[in-house]
Amino acid sequence: MTKHIGILTAGGDSPGLNAAIRGVCKAALGKYGMDIIGFRDGFRGLMENRFMRIDNDVVSGVLSVGGTILGTSRDKPHRMMVGGKQQDMTDAIVENYHANHLDALVCLGGGGTQKNALRLMEKGLNIITLPKTIDRDVAKTDSTFGFDTALGIATDAIDRLHSTAHSHHRIIVVEIMGHRTGWLALGAGIAGGADVILIPEIPYDVESISRAILTRVRGGKKFSIVAMSEGAMSVEEANAISAAEEKKERAEDKVERKRIKAELSQIHRKYTDRTLSLSNSLEESTGLESRITILGHLQRGGTPSAADRIIASTLGAACADLIHQGHYGVMVALSGNKPIPVPLDEVAGVRRVIPPGHPWIETARSLGVCLGDGSRRTD
Ligand code: F6P
Repeated sequence: MTKHIGILTAGGDSPGLNAAIRGVCKAALGKYGMDIIGFRDGFRGLMENRFMRIDNDVVSGVLSVGGTILGTSRDKPHRMMVGGKQQDMTDAIVENYHANHLDALVCLGGGGTQKNALRLMEKGLNIITLPKTIDRDVAKTDSTFGFDTALGIATDAIDRLHSTAHSHHRIIVVEIMGHRTGWLALGAGIAGGADVILIPEIPYDVESISRAILTRVRGGKKFSIVAMSEGAMSVEEANAISAAEEKKERAEDKVERKRIKAELSQIHRKYTDRTLSLSNSLEESTGLESRITILGHLQRGGTPSAADRIIASTLGAACADLIHQGHYGVMVALSGNKPIPVPLDEVAGVRRVIPPGHPWIETARSLGVCLGDGSRRTD
């Protein structure tokens, strides 16, 4: 019997999404003769029952195209703005899934999407997810598609910043995406030869960064590149966040917990304030001029790298195989070069941070890169 599947892309877009849609659909159509519809703009399109039929023509020529042909949004099924009010639209979504006689729904997304997909799975839908994000922060997978492309863009930016920082004898603080993990900043920092790399996993001390920069100046290097992850924070800020998080856990009142949660998310979002403030502090403490560069959404745009196309195609094709086998409730993860199904409830809600002692951290330290926690360059 022909299987009917729905597919959607949710959360921030990411290079490789179209390659993944193509991977799922080409295998589902060609190998298994399935019937596919693509919902537009993430969970919102599913809630509003806006979709397009997907045949081979639709996925032809999209492999190298950035963004997502389906459109995306950050809407969550259980918290969606409808009619000017935030509402739980889960029932409407479940209804549309059944109205379209779907056998499975494929959700392509990052950490937030895994959580939303799990909620739908708990409502009885057959769900399969794929891990997409430039942040590489999804649990239980060795990588996510989008990361490699963003890594290349951020590395290229650091390369370019070197010559101007060098010519003007300046510090340049470059803000790199990554949400609350430092994979992108650490990877690009190492690949681009940044002098200081700041990541959320290691709260920084401004004085130790100044010392590292002044040591370079004494060694004749009057410029420094600081690769700063958007989630990086000073020791003081990180302590304040931990204290607020503990308070939130202890709060018995639901309203108070919600208030602290909203406050915390505001603090997390103020990355550019932190970038600017660090740049100003370093200018003052080192006597060097300092500039900031915010790479922002440039890191998510454009054509996916070859590595991302391979990951997306591999996971997409494996996803079609799993649907054929009726193997649902899983994320198709990457283990080495192999696609493997991982139970969704082991992935959702778990952020993959850089563990202490990770080889990239050790490498950076061995190269004399300052990670903001007191280690210093020796050259
Ligand atoms: O999760 C991907 C990501 O690009 C993060 O690195 C960044 O913090 C966030 O999305 C930006 O989101 P938006 O596109 O909604 O501004």
